[in-house]
Amino acid sequence: MARPRNDRFLRALLREPVDYTPLWLMRQAGRYLPEYCETRKRAGSFLALCKSPQLACEVTLQPLARYDLDAAILFSDILTVPDAMGLGLYFAEGEGPKFERPLREEWEIRNLAVPDPNVELRYVIDAVAEIRRALDGSVPLIGFSGSPYTLACYMIEGGASDDFRRIKTMLYSRPDLLHHVLDVTAQAVTAYLNAQIEAGAQAVQIFDTWGGSLSHAAYREFSLAYMTKIIAGLKRSHDGERIPVIVFTKGGGLWLEDIAASGCDAVGLDWSIDIGQARARVGSKVALQGNLDPSVLFGGSEVVAREARRVLDSFGPGSGHVFNLGHGISQFTPPEAVTALVETVHAASRAAHRPESKG
Ligand code: CP3
Repeated sequence: MARPRNDRFLRALLREPVDYTPLWLMRQAGRYLPEYCETRKRAGSFLALCKSPQLACEVTLQPLARYDLDAAILFSDILTVPDAMGLGLYFAEGEGPKFERPLREEWEIRNLAVPDPNVELRYVIDAVAEIRRALDGSVPLIGFSGSPYTLACYMIEGGASDDFRRIKTMLYSRPDLLHHVLDVTAQAVTAYLNAQIEAGAQAVQIFDTWGGSLSHAAYREFSLAYMTKIIAGLKRSHDGERIPVIVFTKGGGLWLEDIAASGCDAVGLDWSIDIGQARARVGSKVALQGNLDPSVLFGGSEVVAREARRVLDSFGPGSGHVFNLGHGISQFTPPEAVTALVETVHAASRAAHRPESKG
């Protein structure tokens, strides 16, 4: 199977030469787009949207119709995996995700089982296949999952949390139980990502949104170790093409070298780190993805252009950079700010990729 016509994203992840820096945005299909809100209304709810392969495909393509983005990302949610494990995901209006049956008792934890992604998560796998067909070889499709630690935060807290009191209590009082949750979840994530790859995902990203809330030692033991195990269990090529893996730990800048040693092809960065310094630390080992503060998109097109150029200049010449935000795009982002961002990244990065400017 040939690469997509626009393969800059895959080339940059593999640190192969490109003519300009590719970009996509975390949460690129979302509530800042009026057409997304319209489809979501038609679906009835966010979860109904996720569970319909046809509507998930429709919203996946919406940002690509508007902007010259270099990759599509499967429209779904990280919490579909614990939902498939029987926890009962729902969204309370204005309160974010919640579980009907969070993990509270030891027996509930001992009963956890690995779902078959082709059965319990069939709707996601069908969406991947449908999106690949609809993309028709134009840009690559990114599959994703949450990290075991990030999923466990929601599974144990029962929803969003400010202090992670329940999971951290378990971490320090019953580490054996937390390790069991993480072990089963890591097996579930491995099977789920492999099923996405077999259905057509051309790169995968592990979202470790809450790994950064851990101590230096706990991060390695309870988050990074499980992501490393997942990566070791992934199909690394499909249809003759390498499937790059991106690890994004929000707040993980201090631990870059260790993340880069996880076996991933690229490390996602939030905006708290200078991308040039990050490159100096790990640049010959992995590609880097990031890392514009999503709030820059509130500053008007000139500020967007200036700050995007700052990230590009900091990374410097040569391949190995996928431009992105440092976290998901805000629902309050003016859509025209994204137009300015895409134009700036594509135009301003060309000079850094001329053959004479070596990285
Ligand atoms: O990047 C993409 O465009 C792909 C789709 C995607 C969504 N969620 C869609 C979504 C991805 C990759 C995610 C990942 C996700 N989901 C994470 C990890 C990344 C991160 O942002 O930290 C987390 C922690 C979740 C759990 C989750 N789902 C939260 C915290 C929320 C927000 C709740 C709220 O009301 O703001 C969701 C809902 C969600 N996931 C939305 C979207 C577009 C908004 C739902 C809506 O339409 O109401």
